[in-house]
Amino acid sequence: MDKFIINGGNTLKGTIKIGGSKNAALALMPATLLASGKYQFDNIPDLRDISTMSKLLEMMGVDTEKHNQILSINTFRVNKFEAPYEQVKKMRASIYVLGPLVARYGYAKVSLPGGCAWGPRPVNLHIEGVRKLGAKIEIDQGYIVAKAKKLKGARITFDVSSVGATGNVMMAAVLAKGTSVIENAAIEPEIIALAEFLVKMGAQINGIGTTRLEIEGVDALHPVNEAMIPDRIEAGTFLVAAALTGGKIKIENCNPSHITSLLTKLEEAGSKLQIGTDWIKIQSPKIPKPVDVTTAVYPGFPTDMQAQWLSLMSVAKGSSVIIDTIYFDRFKHVPELIRLGANIELNRNTAMVKGVKQLKAAKVMSTDLRASASLVLAGLVAKGKTEVLRVYHLDRGYERLEKKLQSLGAKIRRVSGKEY
Ligand code: EPZ
Repeated sequence: MDKFIINGGNTLKGTIKIGGSKNAALALMPATLLASGKYQFDNIPDLRDISTMSKLLEMMGVDTEKHNQILSINTFRVNKFEAPYEQVKKMRASIYVLGPLVARYGYAKVSLPGGCAWGPRPVNLHIEGVRKLGAKIEIDQGYIVAKAKKLKGARITFDVSSVGATGNVMMAAVLAKGTSVIENAAIEPEIIALAEFLVKMGAQINGIGTTRLEIEGVDALHPVNEAMIPDRIEAGTFLVAAALTGGKIKIENCNPSHITSLLTKLEEAGSKLQIGTDWIKIQSPKIPKPVDVTTAVYPGFPTDMQAQWLSLMSVAKGSSVIIDTIYFDRFKHVPELIRLGANIELNRNTAMVKGVKQLKAAKVMSTDLRASASLVLAGLVAKGKTEVLRVYHLDRGYERLEKKLQSLGAKIRRVSGKEY
């Protein structure tokens, strides 16, 4: 298992390009199951989660081929409608195949996702939503087994706003007979991108971008090509890295309108921003001001940026409170940040942070994707040589993170597992 070795203290300077959105790709790839044919996706990042999704689709008979950032998908030969536990346990987003399989083939056998590094992450809303559309669903030995001759339009109201459940139910409803209404739908940019992709495929969806979607089922869809939207969390992670080191960087190929809540908080913490159509320049003070954050569904402060913000607040000039209302236990990074000298008190889903003058290097352990990112960021300013272990968590969602940080002046290198 690879690790990163980071010598803290360098200020980040320079320009980097942001890659395509992991979470948009993970929704659009299974959507290709809705229509046989050839698809070409552009701006696809080189990430473990993308190859995991490709492998899952290939197990169903889909052909996939990736050249640089182009992913070609051919769904002519789909002949298996199962997502086995061995595959699903690697990545929860595998459950996105449920809706398309039932809608197009009338059958799906998808493993329940199993545990995740932080918290229970139920899938009841996915199951209930597809059941409301007329599928007969049983849970059999850890598998969701869904059958339906033809799905029928229905009204689905989510009591919790869920990105994944909105995506799954939308993909099921587009081929259902009649009208479906989804209320309290998620409006994250990745869900909007999925809805727009489905419309390009011939689906009839009204209310895109609002929490009420009205879907008129159609008989068939057709393959189309699509380019991924930029990854808003990668963009946010680099902006926080700049703020942590008192740096001055420009990020390109991003969509500033997808991260307005973060940009506001960065300005409150003392960073100066210049915002273009697809770029952002940030210049940050040596020490950030303390700024409280409470995560919320889009367009609120994203839970996927909570860990990174905690790292920034660990060296702020004063105290701050960070609350995660989406995942109450997404704080596996806290004990590791404390090993780096952070002063954090955790009480359920609330972290009270007292900024310290200097973090100090240590050996720390990655537990999940965004927690790992927060440890790398903290290592950029910790005095001495920080080792971040198990960086395979990072490789799931950040493309060549160490290379991009090196290009901005960070002293970080990857040591492959066999060397230690
Ligand atoms: C998506 O996960 C993202 N993953 C996550 O990003 C992100 O943290 C999350 O949305 C929230 O923004 C992908 O898009 C692949 P949810 P998802 O369903 O869809 C509860 C990353 O770092 N819930 O919106 O699984 C759930 O427990 C990943 O890239 C139910 O109760 O999240 C949570 O409290 C990590 N029942 C809330 O909804 C359900 O059936 C939001 O979860 C489903 C969800």
